[in-house]
Amino acid sequence: MIVDCDPGHDDAMALVVAARHADVLGVTTVAGNAPLHSTTRNARIVLDLIGSKIPVHSGASRPLVAPPHDASHVHGKSGLDGADLPEPSRGPESENAIAFIIETCRANEGVWLVPIGPLTNIALALRAAPDLGSRIAGISLMGGGTFGNVTAAAEFNVWADPEAADIVFRYGGKLMMSGLDVTHQLQATPSRLARIREIPGQLPKVLADLLAFYSKSYINSHRDMTGAAVHDPCAVLALTHPHLFSISPEHVALESHGEHTRGMTLIDRRQYSKPVAPNCDVVWGVDDEPAFDVLIEAIQFFA
Ligand code: BDR
Ligand code: CA
Repeated sequence: MIVDCDPGHDDAMALVVAARHADVLGVTTVAGNAPLHSTTRNARIVLDLIGSKIPVHSGASRPLVAPPHDASHVHGKSGLDGADLPEPSRGPESENAIAFIIETCRANEGVWLVPIGPLTNIALALRAAPDLGSRIAGISLMGGGTFGNVTAAAEFNVWADPEAADIVFRYGGKLMMSGLDVTHQLQATPSRLARIREIPGQLPKVLADLLAFYSKSYINSHRDMTGAAVHDPCAVLALTHPHLFSISPEHVALESHGEHTRGMTLIDRRQYSKPVAPNCDVVWGVDDEPAFDVLIEAIQFFA
């Protein structure tokens, strides 16, 4: 797989679990939770912490059409606030994530693209190389859902670049969407954070500090959450541990014009005998305890 990310606290967890359970051909970065230079730096730091030499390529520094917006209210100014982070040991391999995605998917049949930030890089790659859609195994993304977190309708990764998301939802190949319905079930609860803290070493300490910082904004702003939603690992785990998830094929359309609904993923739930042809495997539920065990085991593995 190629993980396309904007680290981001939950992106960091996704990188750890992807490096543990998948053959990660590369990590590409995009502006999202923080500006591109920060998300690229953060990706390199996380990979250093797990001793990984996976190549990092930086990509789009802004959305296709929408004005740039970060998520510093959740992830802090650096995109990864809350822990003492080491300086990265290396720079990105290139600043051309789009070329990296295209070349890698042409050289290797059956690559999964796993976007866990705004979909700008993936849309640009699909647009520049129309053959990609039939070469890749599919796209497993974190984004969307039946409710939003930036607006009532729109989730951040889709809201940040709806035009890019529209290209991805129409690309015609296999698509999996881990939206807020499932990701809000995987929370960094105090007892789970305590389990991470018990593991000796720098990586567990950094990740526990990061998740504690990240959880504060969720606990403060929600009536019903005891920890942050650890969104992004779901897009990885839905591929590596599919038995932990409930998934159904649906038709999903991207709303990019609505006054109140720009960035919404409209899932057709009409129970018609002749339904609109599905274009997306929607991930609805997760067996959260064993799924979090997989995250903790991955941290232990690299600690
Ligand atoms: C998504 O937005 C970002 O803040 C997270 O990293 C995640 O990818 C959740 O809406
Ligand atoms: Ca993210």
